[in-house]
Amino acid sequence: MKRESIARGKVTIITPHTTFKLSSNESLLDGLLRTGHQIEYQCRNGYCGACRCKLVSGEVSYPTLPLAFIPAGEVLTCCGKPESTLVLDLPAAEKTTTAKTNEVKKEQIPHTV
Ligand code: FES
Repeated sequence: MKRESIARGKVTIITPHTTFKLSSNESLLDGLLRTGHQIEYQCRNGYCGACRCKLVSGEVSYPTLPLAFIPAGEVLTCCGKPESTLVLDLPAAEKTTTAKTNEVKKEQIPHTV
């Protein structure tokens, strides 16, 4: 069977809360953070294992073998390279509240005469 290799920037990532595509040269970890997912990380180099998450389906390769243990059915998001559409099981995406806090009410704008 011929293995399908998908160039970065075209890989679709599906989580319980959203579906998105990785940008060019963006790691899986950075894509998840960009889309508001709560995921822990420390080293970003495959040493600590903190960025591990559940891989429901899809293929991931590791260009450099990470030192952190990777249990079956999990992926290191900092250094794992998606080779197909991935379905991940992750905590809920954070709700952003910055848009509300940056609003300025009309009454708060000082009058200059
Ligand atoms: S952040 Fe340390 S292994 Fe991914």
